Amino acid sequence: MPDSYSNEPKKINVKTLRKFKKEGRKIAVLTAYDFPTAKLLDNAGVDCLLVGDSAATVVYGYPNTLPITMDQMILLCQAVSRGVKRALLIGDMPFLSYQPSEEIAIINAGRFLKEGGVEAVKLEGGLEMVGLIRKMVDFGIPVMGHIGLTPQSVNKFGGYKIMGKTDRQREYLLKSAEAMEGAGAFAIVLESVVPEVARKISESIKIPTIGIGAGTDCDGQVLVVSDMIGLFEEFRPKFVRQYAQLAKIIRDAAGRYCDDVRSGKFPGPEESYEG
Ligand code: KIV
Repeated sequence: MPDSYSNEPKKINVKTLRKFKKEGRKIAVLTAYDFPTAKLLDNAGVDCLLVGDSAATVVYGYPNTLPITMDQMILLCQAVSRGVKRALLIGDMPFLSYQPSEEIAIINAGRFLKEGGVEAVKLEGGLEMVGLIRKMVDFGIPVMGHIGLTPQSVNKFGGYKIMGKTDRQREYLLKSAEAMEGAGAFAIVLESVVPEVARKISESIKIPTIGIGAGTDCDGQVLVVSDMIGLFEEFRPKFVRQYAQLAKIIRDAAGRYCDDVRSGKFPGPEESYEG
């Protein structure tokens, strides 16, 4: 963990995030899908790790997030949870694991906490999810909301669109954020929201907003780790900043390995057991 964080809380929880917002301290969130990466990100001081349903595309190679199942998500959560000590760990509820009924939603959210080892869940949707969020929170399941571009609704919207451009969208986003706060959500992801609207929402609620493609005025930021480290090359949204180019490093390393195997340079005496 960086030295500047040496006086920081040993463990982040939902209350810590609200305190960070009050203190004006920005919240750093990344996704994670496996044990070694989660351990590295946790050591680096990332405040929250989200086992995102983006795993559908960046781990499983599906064209969008719709196909990923509860069982696939739970396995990833289990691996990630073994690597995390400090960050708040959040599991992302996959498409149709919470929409059919409150009962199904609560059973599946419970699986995330009981089997997956996460401390909170995230679900997509605004005003229409408020009743469910209230019930989940009442039952002891912390919930993070997610409004703006909601990738599980890609077929409804006919693509991935920036949200908050029309008066109707702005009103829906603002009302959704306020209602979700009222229902007990501990934070809200704002994805691909016009920065001015994201700022307005962030100012009007006490729980933190976590932006992705929503400008600088959110209370925190989240990126898909595979985008942030330059591992996923299929597409790169405008809002991504690459802090490393791992795809190139891995490709180069694998190429050199192939050359060494084929030329007989690997293994050498130092990588072989003595008789
Ligand atoms: O699935 C995911 O990774 C997400 C984040 C991008 C917020 O929902």
